[in-house]
This record gives sequence, C-alpha cells and structure tokens, in this order.
Amino acid sequence: MSDLRAKYLTAIAGAKDEAALEALRVQALGKKGEISLAMRELGRMSAEERQQAGPRLNALKDEINAALTARKQALTDAALDERLRGEWLDVTLPARPRRQGTIHPVSQVTEEVTAIFADMGFAVAEGPQIESDWYNFDALNIPGHHPARAEMDTFYTHRAEGDDRPPHVLRTHTSPVQIRAMQAQGAPLRVIAPGRVYRADYDQTHTPMFHQVEGLAIDRDISMANLKWVLEEFVKAFFEVDHVDLRFRASHFPFTEPSAEVDIRCSWDGGTLKVGEGDDWLEILGSGMVHPKVLEAGNIDPNEWQGFAFGMGIDRIAMLKYGIPDLRAFFESDLRWLRHYGFAALDVPTLHGGLSR
Ligand code: DAH
Repeated sequence: MSDLRAKYLTAIAGAKDEAALEALRVQALGKKGEISLAMRELGRMSAEERQQAGPRLNALKDEINAALTARKQALTDAALDERLRGEWLDVTLPARPRRQGTIHPVSQVTEEVTAIFADMGFAVAEGPQIESDWYNFDALNIPGHHPARAEMDTFYTHRAEGDDRPPHVLRTHTSPVQIRAMQAQGAPLRVIAPGRVYRADYDQTHTPMFHQVEGLAIDRDISMANLKWVLEEFVKAFFEVDHVDLRFRASHFPFTEPSAEVDIRCSWDGGTLKVGEGDDWLEILGSGMVHPKVLEAGNIDPNEWQGFAFGMGIDRIAMLKYGIPDLRAFFESDLRWLRHYGFAALDVPTLHGGLSR
C-alpha cells in the first residue's frame, strides 16, 4: 500500500496539466482504478484484516484526492502568474512624447485681430465664399464696365449653356460681407468680417486664395476721425507697441468716398521690421467713408446714417508681424514650416493674456 501511495503522490506532484491529473485520478480512483479494486478486495478479507486495511485505504483515497486538488490549484496559480508576467505593464513609465499640432499663423492672426476689435465693440460677420456678382461688385458700386472687375482677376463659376444669369464668383474681397451685414442687421452697426478671398494671381506675395478682414462701423455721425482712432488702437495692439504713426494717403475705391490707403511708420534696420519708429512707411490697408450707394444697397438710408469701412490682408500682416518671407509657404502644408511658424494650441490670443505669447 505504501508503494501505491508513493507512486501516485509522486506522479501527481509531477503532472504537467489538468489532463494528466484527470488521467491519474481515473487510474487510481476510477471504477477500475487501482485503489477502487483494492477496496473491492476488502470483502474477501477476514474481519480483522478488514479492520486494518479499510481505514488505511480510505485514508489513502482521501490523501490522493487532496493531492489532486492541491496540484490542480498549483497549476492554475502558475498559469495566472505566467499570464500576469506576459501582460505586465509599468504604469509609472513616462508617456512617449507625441508630436503636437500647431496653430497656423493665419488662424493665430485672425484670432488676434478678432480679439482686438472685439475689445472695441466689433462683432464678427460672415458671408459665403461663392458670391453673386451683385454682392461682390454691383452692390459695392462697381458696375459691369468698371476696371476694378478686370483688375481683380476674378474666378468665375460655370453656368449651364443657355443660362443667361451672370455667373457667381469666388469672392475677390471680404467687402460683400458689408452689404450682407447691413441687410441683416441694419444700423447702427459695428462688425469685422475675416475670411478667405480668391484672385487668379501667384508669386512671392500673392496666392490664388488668401485672407482679408473687413471692418464696418455705421452710426449717425461717424467720421474719418473715428476711423483713425480705431486703426491706431488696432495697430498698437496688434504689433504690441506703445506708439504708432499712421499716414492716410488719398486713394480711390468705388465703395468709399473719400478713400484712403493707410501706411504705418516703420524701420527695416537690420532686416527686421520695427513698427512705430524709423523713416519707412508700410501700407497695411484700404479704407474710407462708406459710399451712399453702398449704404443704399444695404438698405440703410444714407441721409440718416454714415460710416467708415476698411479692408486689410490677414496673411500680409501675419508675414509682417512674424517675419515670414514667402506667402506661398502658408498654403503648402509643409510640416517643418508649420512647426517653425506655428503657435501652441492652447495659447488663445486675448488682450489681457497677451496676444502672441
Ligand atoms: N476691398 C478692397 C480690396 O480688396 C479693400 C478695401 C478698401 C476694403 C477700402 C474697404 C475699403 O472696406 O473701405 O482691395
């Protein structure tokens, strides 16, 4: 009997898996198992012999059962350990540094401009990029034969054969938003309209798509003096300087009367632009008093209301402020360029928090 004990306990301790354990259980305790057969032998023994062998066999049966259970548990524990070792994860490891996206200079400058004008009470207005030629030209006092239409290198959309309506255009400037804002909101009115504009042109300072911001202020007695103050405040805030000189040069735009182009005093000493000092002048925008016909196109009575308007190139002032030499690179999606000139994603420009920091 001690042979049986040694045989099974050793075999159970060495079993590699559950199937091996089950085979041993059947071999020892199954119907025809060695222990079961030995139990059956008890019937043929004398009473004394049986009293000796019975309890010992029962004890052996219990011992083998216990060994089977223990080994099975050990195998399960080992499997779990093995799995935990394989799936182990060091949660204290530092995260892999990820490449972060950046804010494009055009978006950055649009936000800066919007923050500055918002502070002066200007809301943001919008209009479609595919515009009717009435909004883009006629309503702005640019009639069909006007040279400005040809000068603007307009992209026209296609009309079906036999459709005589004038084609829509890709808006050549943000000025049509003036008309839409006047029609939608009436007077008094104070809006800026930043957005994309299109002209067929391509060189170092021109791309077929670029960005402008339009400004429009309408009230009962708005004058060029108000325009000058607003622009001075804007230029100081935008270039982050305490002092600026503006120069108004008489000019001509069909939608303003009088019209002026505005230059700012600057220096290019050492190749970098400094605003507010020096002997150079830099043109930054077109402006003027809104033409009475333009007010009328916006359903505003020119006998009661007047106002100023201006239009400025966003990409151009972005190039000036951030020293970016070639406009075409703005729209080439070169990641190296974006990483170099881009802005941190969470630095939203505000006047109190700093525009470009
Ligand atoms: N629309 C003009 C352009 O694209 C810019 C402009 C000039 C806008 C004078 C104005 C303005 O509102 O008053 O060149």
